[in-house]
Amino acid sequence: MGRINLGQVFTPKIISDFMVGLFDMGKKANILDPCFGEGVFVNSLKDKGFSNVTAIELDKKLFDSFDAPFGFKKINCDFLNYSGLLFDGIIMNPPYVRQEEINGLKQYGITKEMLRSKKIYSSLPRKANLYSYFVIKSLSLLKSDGELVLIIPSTWTKNDSYLNKAICRAGGFITYQANCVGLPFGKNVLVDVDILKIKKGLYSDSKVVINKNLAIANDVLEISNVQENKLLGNKNCISLNVIAKVKRGISSGNNDMYFKDCSEILSKYKKPILSNPRSISSFLVNKKCLSYCLTIPNNMSVEKELDDYIQIEKQKIIDTKSPLGIFNKIQNNDLTWYCFNPTKCPKNTIVFGYIVRANLKFSITAQECIIRDNFYTINSNDQLLLLSLLNNYYCYYRVEMAGKKYGGGLLKLQCYDIKNIQIINPELLSLKDKNELIKNAELLIKSLSSQSQQIIKENTLLLSKYEDISNVDIEKIYFSTKERRLISK
Ligand SMILES: C[S@@+](CC[C@H](N)C(=O)[O-])C[C@H]1O[C@@H](n2cnc3c(N)ncnc32)[C@H](O)[C@@H]1O
Repeated sequence: MGRINLGQVFTPKIISDFMVGLFDMGKKANILDPCFGEGVFVNSLKDKGFSNVTAIELDKKLFDSFDAPFGFKKINCDFLNYSGLLFDGIIMNPPYVRQEEINGLKQYGITKEMLRSKKIYSSLPRKANLYSYFVIKSLSLLKSDGELVLIIPSTWTKNDSYLNKAICRAGGFITYQANCVGLPFGKNVLVDVDILKIKKGLYSDSKVVINKNLAIANDVLEISNVQENKLLGNKNCISLNVIAKVKRGISSGNNDMYFKDCSEILSKYKKPILSNPRSISSFLVNKKCLSYCLTIPNNMSVEKELDDYIQIEKQKIIDTKSPLGIFNKIQNNDLTWYCFNPTKCPKNTIVFGYIVRANLKFSITAQECIIRDNFYTINSNDQLLLLSLLNNYYCYYRVEMAGKKYGGGLLKLQCYDIKNIQIINPELLSLKDKNELIKNAELLIKSLSSQSQQIIKENTLLLSKYEDISNVDIEKIYFSTKERRLISK
């Protein structure tokens, strides 16, 4: 097994001490090092007074040669297959093994196939490096509010940017990021690395990530500030999901059957649905924006004309074996396979298109209706105030930056992108500003598109006193960012 790449690069004690210092928990907390190597983190943990420590290492030679401090638990196993109690803290320098080399670990029972067959890794793409699996596995072993401190190659923000999204999906959010400049692992390892602290749980006290640079000079760790991207949020901001419920609209599983223009005969089974983002031309989603969809409640006795329709659709599904989910239900004799009875969203739900075209806007519904999965729905205690907190150039810029280019100048937003958008914390607004913003939202709902630009400008001006950059600058930056997207078709 001598030549197998287990990604063995060892962390200098000065960095390990620094990383242990990032834990914000009592000394009795139970901590895991899932790949201890020569045991540097274990020693730092002991030095800092932690006593409830578990350490795992796959390599038997390294495992045997490390004398764990008294009372510390040492396990020789594959961490990716480990199961046990949840931890308050996990600290690691995961093995850096490129995706092409993962199958080289077959003798340890680790193959890409095996990893990909596990549900917890489903958010990772095929090209994921081994360390990405370590990150997701660690998050699964953390208690709520637990902390993961790790050091990984800086490529995670560039080539491996999928990792950030997988971290969010696994319930983690980054609270600290330090880029190590210089050569923290000595001259033999020429990789740029980042130290991250990831917390598990809701963005309850959401803060902008603390960004630092670290450098080792003369055996001293120098920590300096990085120019923070003040445009993406500041200390007055919170994530949208702290004050609002953000959800994706309803999927039918068979659009053909429920969303097509059903005949008049079936009209009594139709309910209004917001289906097409292009139908919304203003900030108000009114009757004109809605179409209809067929709904069939579970307990409904099916009348002849509906039954005829269902039988025709059933035959189509059987012939084409599509959509597969519904085909399987029919095959399994699920008698409710045709039922579709989505819940209506209340009046005053804020909606936002899943795909952004030229113009970005958050609109509000004038009546209760079903909302399709082309939209995100946003609901809070104060929808009018929220409408203004979302419709301004600070927020538009943040949405622009959070989205992924989708070809043809389009921008695609995932649910977690919207949930994590930074908006000004309503609790920090003065009463006067709050009232102005609510008034602007009322005007926005009634406005024609020529007037709406002025209201958005006013919202931006009002919020500028809580932001770090002027309303004039953010407007310019937003429009030039959007322009770049649109011409990069
Ligand atoms: C980058 S080294 C870090 C070692 C040590 N934590 C440090 O920072 O110096 C990664 C370690 O992970 C171990 N390793 C690799 N795959 C593993 C697995 N599946 N389970 C547990 N340990 C593993 C390697 O043998 C290696 O010691």
